[in-house]
Amino acid sequence: MRTAAVILAAGQSTRMRSKSPKVLHPLLGRPIISYALESTTLAAGSKPVLVIGHGAEQVRQIVGDAAHYVVQEPQLGTGHAVQQAEQVLKGNADIVLVTYADMPLIKSTTFQQMIALQQDNSVPISMMTIQSEDPRGFGRVIRADDGSITAIVEEADATPEQLHVRELNVGVYCFQGAWLWEALKRIPLSPKGEYYLTDLVKIAVNDGQEIKSYSPEDPNEAIGINNRVHLSEVREIMKAEINQHWMLSGVTIVDPATTFIDHGIEIGQDTVIWPNTYIAGSSSIGESSAIGPDAFIQDTSIGDRCKVWYAVLEGAQVEDEVELGPFGHLRKGAHLAQGVHMGNFGEVKNSYLGPGTKMGHFSYVGDTTTGADVNIGAGTVTCNYDGERKHPTEIGAGAFIGSDTMLVAPVKVGEGARTGAGAVVTRDVPENTLAVGSPARSIKRLQKSE
Ligand code: UD1
Ligand code: CA
Repeated sequence: MRTAAVILAAGQSTRMRSKSPKVLHPLLGRPIISYALESTTLAAGSKPVLVIGHGAEQVRQIVGDAAHYVVQEPQLGTGHAVQQAEQVLKGNADIVLVTYADMPLIKSTTFQQMIALQQDNSVPISMMTIQSEDPRGFGRVIRADDGSITAIVEEADATPEQLHVRELNVGVYCFQGAWLWEALKRIPLSPKGEYYLTDLVKIAVNDGQEIKSYSPEDPNEAIGINNRVHLSEVREIMKAEINQHWMLSGVTIVDPATTFIDHGIEIGQDTVIWPNTYIAGSSSIGESSAIGPDAFIQDTSIGDRCKVWYAVLEGAQVEDEVELGPFGHLRKGAHLAQGVHMGNFGEVKNSYLGPGTKMGHFSYVGDTTTGADVNIGAGTVTCNYDGERKHPTEIGAGAFIGSDTMLVAPVKVGEGARTGAGAVVTRDVPENTLAVGSPARSIKRLQKSE
């Protein structure tokens, strides 16, 4: 049977109190909407139809070609929203899976169960329900004495007796395609001036039809994000799932409560993650490394056997056996080769530090390339900016940059050269030469032993 998915994302989501559309709020590295897109695509085996309206252009820009779009304008309720998909799906889908964009915890396997239930029964509607003591403003599922479903009543319209019902409408449905499009036209206008999708249940029952229901094993899957409290609840659950996945894959997480790992990260075996660590964006960490405490790692790859603590890394590359921190900052384009040691209060931007290079104490290195085994003395600064433009610095292999050296770029320090403490290097220093003073002068050729 041909299955198509429809995701509703046109609503105004006033309860978020946000300038940006609810479904674009980030959730562990991805917008909320991306979860429903991915799981429905997997379950239905085809691109979903996304109903957009409020913030349509922004949503379209982020989602790109991961969905077919229909625009709902004005937004007259969830029933009216599904109606907009008729132009795309009528005659093309035997089963129409409908879900709301604000429920990112529903798994593709759960959607598949719903589709299977609908395939096995010739009913107009299969719907997902949960039993919960916390009604969270969900619609209540009303059943007759024989247990059959007769209606969904929205909380705002429920009688005091109906408010006590603990079976809730999750907001995931499978419809018979042939039945759906005609039935949508029969939805009455609600007291709030909307066309509720949930009223389709009453319409089917009035036609003498049966409604099937399915409950997911984990009721948490049904949590919808209507406000920022719900957003944090969902983040908490996802974060725990991700942390558990990594722990079961051989990563030690010392304090899962304060460890935030985005989706799509790679982490190698026997790596230890210390408290208060964020690993975000498109980052990866190798094997047997120690990360944190207090590390923020964004779009950065870190190799094997590294130690990174009390540090901020953004858009950087760190090879194997690097030690970084405490209090280090790697900015975009920083590349530390194997065995680099970068101690307290270092900042590196758009630079390559060659293998074994040491930079122990409070230095700034920008737009610089170093060879292997360079020693960058305490307080060294590459003066890469003249107020208008950035200039490069080159430091040859084995060079020794004395404490408090200012390298005024563009400038080159040759292989095996040395600068004296406090040198202000404004001109190139030849290889194996000592330069001292301000401005620095080359005063002698160095012997092998010096
Ligand atoms: C809805 C259900 C409720 C269910 C709950 C579960 C209805 C009438 N009610 O209530 O029974 O328990 O979800 O989470 O369906 N949307 C549109 N166009 C509109 C209105 C809404 O696309 O005109 C979209 C929203 O962007 C959202 C989804 O539909 O993604 C659900 O809307 P929302 O306002 O969150 O409905 P609930 O009040 O949560
Ligand atoms: Ca909702």
